Amino acid sequence: MKIKPEHIAIIMDGNGRWAKNLNKSRRYGHQQGASSAKNIVKEASSIGVKYLTLYAFSTENWGRPSKEVELLMRLFLETLEKEIDELNENNVRIRFIGDRKNLKDKLITKINNAESITKNNNGLKLYVALAYGAKWDIVNAVTNIFHELEKGMLTKEDIDEITFSKFLQLKDAPDPDLLIRTGGEKRISNFLLWNIAYSELYFCDCLWPDFDKNEFERALEFFASRKRRFGVSTKSC
Ligand code: FPP
Repeated sequence: MKIKPEHIAIIMDGNGRWAKNLNKSRRYGHQQGASSAKNIVKEASSIGVKYLTLYAFSTENWGRPSKEVELLMRLFLETLEKEIDELNENNVRIRFIGDRKNLKDKLITKINNAESITKNNNGLKLYVALAYGAKWDIVNAVTNIFHELEKGMLTKEDIDEITFSKFLQLKDAPDPDLLIRTGGEKRISNFLLWNIAYSELYFCDCLWPDFDKNEFERALEFFASRKRRFGVSTKSC
């Protein structure tokens, strides 16, 4: 049997270019992107992937034109409303990672509700990174560690890599084994910087709305072909 990643993280890039190629609006591109995300969640769940983390909106994305930000926020809200029952029926546990302070109350309520409804599900653990940035994640962890130090709940000696990672957004998940980025760019764009220290990186030109079961399979083939050594050589001198 082929080795399968336990945790897959995806940078879903290329909705805008996909729409432009078809002379359609960016709105249409993002809608098709949402549909692609749904298909990949289904596929990951059906092949037994345990954790899936999707980069839906970065801290830097707040800098996009306000119309596009609004349309994306509306799309997240509507997608959540539309899909939550099916996710729950399929035993998916959904959680959101990121800085919620600039999100609208209505969206925060839906997020809390979705997390609460699915909290006991033991199928796919789906993380949606929304208003997420890895630098924010790290600074947020440092701030929270500082508070615990002040309160005497932690001492300086307690701080090591394991303790530190318990303050990050993905504290309950193993590090991603595979990071996929669609859309042709070869960069990480402030996604999970701490957690991907030893992830296998898969970049493809396919634009996100075109990322289907076959493209996903290709990424899994790539992963299965990698020899993971985590910095440890298996050869003797
Ligand atoms: C990249 O396209 C995609 C995003 C900015 C994120 C939005 C993602 C979705 C709408 C997928 C849906 C996800 C969920 C969880 C509902 P881009 O605008 O950067 O494309 P471009 O680089 O071609 O302009």
